[in-house]
Amino acid sequence: THIRFSGENASHLKQADLDQLNDDIEKAHLQLHEKTGAGNDCLGWIDLPEKMMNSDEFSRIKIAAEAIQHSSDVLLVIGIGGSYLGARAAMDMLNHSFQHMLPEDKRNVPHVIFAGNHISSTYIRDLQDVLENKDVSINVISKSGTTPEPAIAFRIFRRLLEDKYGKDEARKRIYVTTNAENGALKTVAETEGYDTFVIPNDVGGRYSVLTAVGLLPVAVSGIAIDDIINGAQSAMHDLNEPDPNNNPAYQYASARNILYNKGKTTELLITYEPHLHMFSEWWKQLFGESEGKNQTGIFPAPAHFTTDLHSMGQYIQDGRRDLFETILHVNRPKKTMTLGKDAENADGLNYLAGKTLHDINDKAYQGTVLAHTDGGVPNLVIDVPALDAYTFGYLVYFFEKACAMSGYLLGVNPFDQPGVEAYKRNMLALLGKPELDDEREHLETRLNA
Ligand code: PA5
Repeated sequence: THIRFSGENASHLKQADLDQLNDDIEKAHLQLHEKTGAGNDCLGWIDLPEKMMNSDEFSRIKIAAEAIQHSSDVLLVIGIGGSYLGARAAMDMLNHSFQHMLPEDKRNVPHVIFAGNHISSTYIRDLQDVLENKDVSINVISKSGTTPEPAIAFRIFRRLLEDKYGKDEARKRIYVTTNAENGALKTVAETEGYDTFVIPNDVGGRYSVLTAVGLLPVAVSGIAIDDIINGAQSAMHDLNEPDPNNNPAYQYASARNILYNKGKTTELLITYEPHLHMFSEWWKQLFGESEGKNQTGIFPAPAHFTTDLHSMGQYIQDGRRDLFETILHVNRPKKTMTLGKDAENADGLNYLAGKTLHDINDKAYQGTVLAHTDGGVPNLVIDVPALDAYTFGYLVYFFEKACAMSGYLLGVNPFDQPGVEAYKRNMLALLGKPELDDEREHLETRLNA
């Protein structure tokens, strides 16, 4: 397979524990593939890479992306949670670290800016300032079509576009990604005749990056989405193997469940490349929202090394021993650089001259694995050969499959998120949503007690 899993730095993982899980894994694998387990109406992601590659939707995404590239300096992507993290992860991982600051001839694609993933008026006002002299398109993404954060941002920026271009031209610059049937966004899209892309009912938000949700913004930013889908397709075939010995996604799923059952209740996803930051945020949502229910579940927490070794390093080395680390280890960086020799050597670094920064980063990784395992923190390693679009697609599918298996091993439905409603309901009741009047009174009494 394309990536490799290793549990050899986790002494808590015993072969006997792994062997014991084999039957459970086989059973869960069948439940996933025969669609007989919990959340079986949300398994559309399993063969999505294959379906997407040959679909009309895929061609339409490419056509729309090209049109946006020609007409716009900025694409505003409005969405939250699963309707934004995947696209952002891909762009962070694959594009130039300072893409929007490159000279225009080198950039050559619209600047993709995200909105509607919080409710900050300062951010929106600042964004309005920079959009003033730019040509703008919007891709608003919401599967339900009723999520408050993106709905508020869309109301504001749709108005901005209509004021700027008039209703007719604005209409051509608004692209909607939502479910096929209902919701406020679907209704507006139909009334206005916006170009619309579909999030299939059987693909949940956090599993939707390989639909138009992720692919349209990512294509606009200049990434080859064929390569992403190719990578995901390879993963789909490689990880279709029920035997965990031949399936690294299942090895990862079982390792983390064994560690959890031994009291390692927090998982740190470790990256050594800053452009994997948003990928770990995507991972955090995938696992947090899939597993954290019924008072159980591993707490997923991204950490960025070596940066966080100077912030969380002390805790990881020596704090509460309920942690394990999973390192997303990149074998080949996107770009390399060799440290030069300095005649004066005032900084004493000439012993590093001639080494690449990646060699140095890798020694930091090796030294940290040894230090943290000495400190009692099991380390799992996922080896990634390179960071390209193909690998992004592969990794997405790898983690989706691992997460589904992990949720089944834990005994939860990894495809629902009933807990997300609680804050939303309170917030909307407190804001005076008409049908939530009774709840508002009750909440206000509590707040004023
Ligand atoms: O994974 C999920 O289902 C959630 O995180 C959703 O993606 C998020 O709440 C946004 O929902 P929607 O796309 O309906 O606006």
